[in-house]
Amino acid sequence: MSFLHCKSKDAFFEALPSALLPESSEGIVRILLMGDVIGRPGRKIVKSVLPQLKHRAKINFATVNGENLAGGFGITQKIFNELTTSAAGVDVITMGNHWCDKPEVHAIRKSSNRMVLPQNLKNLEGVELIPEFEIPGSRRSLCVINLMGLFAMKHEYNDPFEFLEKVRPVLQAKVSGGQSIVVIDVHAEASSEKQAIAWFMDGVAAGLIGTHTHTPTSDERITRKGTAFLTDVGMTGPYESVIGMTLAGSMPRYFTPKQKKPQEVSEKDLWLCGFLLEVSESTGLTLAAHRLQYREDSEEWTLRTVNTPNL
Ligand SMILES: [Fe+2]
Ligand SMILES: [Fe+2]
Repeated sequence: MSFLHCKSKDAFFEALPSALLPESSEGIVRILLMGDVIGRPGRKIVKSVLPQLKHRAKINFATVNGENLAGGFGITQKIFNELTTSAAGVDVITMGNHWCDKPEVHAIRKSSNRMVLPQNLKNLEGVELIPEFEIPGSRRSLCVINLMGLFAMKHEYNDPFEFLEKVRPVLQAKVSGGQSIVVIDVHAEASSEKQAIAWFMDGVAAGLIGTHTHTPTSDERITRKGTAFLTDVGMTGPYESVIGMTLAGSMPRYFTPKQKKPQEVSEKDLWLCGFLLEVSESTGLTLAAHRLQYREDSEEWTLRTVNTPNL
């Protein structure tokens, strides 16, 4: 394990190459997975950091979870377009329990496959199909899985384990046959569900992040078989908040008499959080993974790196 801490953007980008794996003959595919991006402040920090990060770290593909992009609730066509331009750098947007807070989600789904809905949503035609994307610079494709956990969710979803039992053998063949790389966003409240899914997909998925709690965990790891996972990557958005929403709107909900004040996205103390995978082109599994955090107010950049136990 190694740790990089820098106090400015320039220093971070200068030091970054030394934290990454050297280019090897077998080839490295870099995939950045990000969690819930919260409203306008979240979008702002993604747009200001991601293009340069992608360029400097030679990231081939980037995903974000977009269930909170529009004022904390759902996604709009305009926001989808804004983030998925090549200048902004988001290649795919995964979703979660707020997937249908804005009705435009259905139009987005019709017009593009770059928004991935949880494959265990109930009663939505074709949602269970796993989309496969070209990865620039790689001969492998990227299969993106997005799943809802079942614990403490308001709506009902199909069993994510039942879904994975069906698709796992097909994915396994694609990975070992040199055809694909698999990444997973598990949108769930319970750490246990996220970890159980990671272990079930051990040696098949290159990487898995948990999303939904808006709170980063510090358990980044790579299994012996090359699956990197992080129980929750944390939100990209304002941390002077209760899971992204202002203190003025949130705190009165917790004290007697309980008051439901309007919820607004906070604008204070912005962080960007991500999990960067370095995947072997030859095996489709992960050799090194980095938990990245950037805190805007203090201009602090941290990168915590783990390697496979075999390296
Ligand atoms: Fe969220
Ligand atoms: Fe959520």
